[in-house]
Amino acid sequence: MSPIFCAIDTSDLAKARELARKLSGHVGGLKLGLEFFTAHGPKGFADLKAMNTPLFLDLKLHDIPNTVAGAVRSLLPLEPDFITIHAGGGATMIRAAMDAAHEATKHRPKILAVTVLTSLDGKDLTQVGQGSDLQEQVQRLALLAKECGADGIVCAPSEVEKLRALLGPDMTLMVPGIRPSWAEAGDQKRIMTPQMAMKAGATYLVIGRPITESGNPAQAAQRINEELSP
Ligand code: C5P
Repeated sequence: MSPIFCAIDTSDLAKARELARKLSGHVGGLKLGLEFFTAHGPKGFADLKAMNTPLFLDLKLHDIPNTVAGAVRSLLPLEPDFITIHAGGGATMIRAAMDAAHEATKHRPKILAVTVLTSLDGKDLTQVGQGSDLQEQVQRLALLAKECGADGIVCAPSEVEKLRALLGPDMTLMVPGIRPSWAEAGDQKRIMTPQMAMKAGATYLVIGRPITESGNPAQAAQRINEELSP
């Protein structure tokens, strides 16, 4: 199976459907985020789910434990394959999300924790009162997520190798910031090629624009799959 989750960053339902149709069988799944979900909600999600592609619902839930558990419970009927939460919500919140996910009778979503957003640097962390070293904070939150039973984490390419060693072989590492050597970097700064990220220990690769903005998304995805196969 392809490790690619293609980021469908659009609020245009027709465009999302079209991409899902074109990519069917060429990627491991699709990532839908806040932009899509706030526009089309459960109905739009179910629309894409009907195309039989694994779906990663990247909502980065962060609230009091009871509310996050309720949100995860509300998502269960949609049968997402992955849901994200913020590890910074704390141990009780992570455990509450896991408990809610385990209530699934048919299709348990995996819960992935986000550590420190890659849009934040050391200065940003200090400003919000988190004076610790950024990498230390990433590792602290990743370990906390593991201790609380989370299925995996989302992490930047530059963190994969260290986090794989720290967390062991069983945690899922979902990795964005991926660019094939033939693709434009766009606004991504610290990028890795798909091969490098997989070699470093990634489980799945989140890849958006190199696929969605290519003239032929299926062919672009297939090219990456071929480059990844030994
Ligand atoms: O188009 P591109 O491949 O850059 O898309 C990457 C996707 O991964 C986007 O949906 C982006 O929001 C997400 N993401 C990221 N970097 C992170 C976390 C998520 O690029 N650190």
